[in-house]
Amino acid sequence: MNYSINAIGIIHSSFHDPRSGGRQPSIDGRKGQIRIFNQFVDGLEGLEEFSHIFALYYFHRQTEVRLKARPCFDPSTEHGIFASRYPTRPNPIGISVLTLNRIQGNILHCDDIDVIDGTPLLDIKPYVKQFDQMHDPVSGWYDQIDWEKGVGDKSKYK
Ligand SMILES: C[S@@+](CC[C@H](N)C(=O)[O-])C[C@H]1O[C@@H](n2cnc3c(N)ncnc32)[C@H](O)[C@@H]1O
Repeated sequence: MNYSINAIGIIHSSFHDPRSGGRQPSIDGRKGQIRIFNQFVDGLEGLEEFSHIFALYYFHRQTEVRLKARPCFDPSTEHGIFASRYPTRPNPIGISVLTLNRIQGNILHCDDIDVIDGTPLLDIKPYVKQFDQMHDPVSGWYDQIDWEKGVGDKSKYK
């Protein structure tokens, strides 16, 4: 089954090399902008009232699919791609929860961007605490990481 979708905008950030992007928004994301293409700007109405958004995007510089990966947070162990947030996915779609600072026309000014400059944006959804805030979530192997000791060595990633 094939489906085709079109980007609705472009994410701009100060990361340029796919090997040196941020790891996750809350870990080392940076300020940046999302530019929404003009034909979709009407869809932004009301979004300025939300503090956080989900950005869904295409890892356009990802060149390979790997169903097992050694993510940067646990480089000594292979994990199934669907049990990780690693980018070598069959459908290279990423998701980030971003802080939305303000909207200026077709530009969304955001904190916490963890992708490289030029990443095609597929969709935006508002973060809704009534739906999206889970209580006592269980996070698999991520729960075994000693977050006090740091968050892994990015040089071992890829
Ligand atoms: C671990 S992924 C996590 C992204 C997202 N927060 C998620 O959970 O889906 C982030 C990494 O993907 C890589 N990356 C970022 N933007 C990319 C792009 N447009 N194409 C290919 N790789 C990209 C960078 O190496 C970055 O460190």
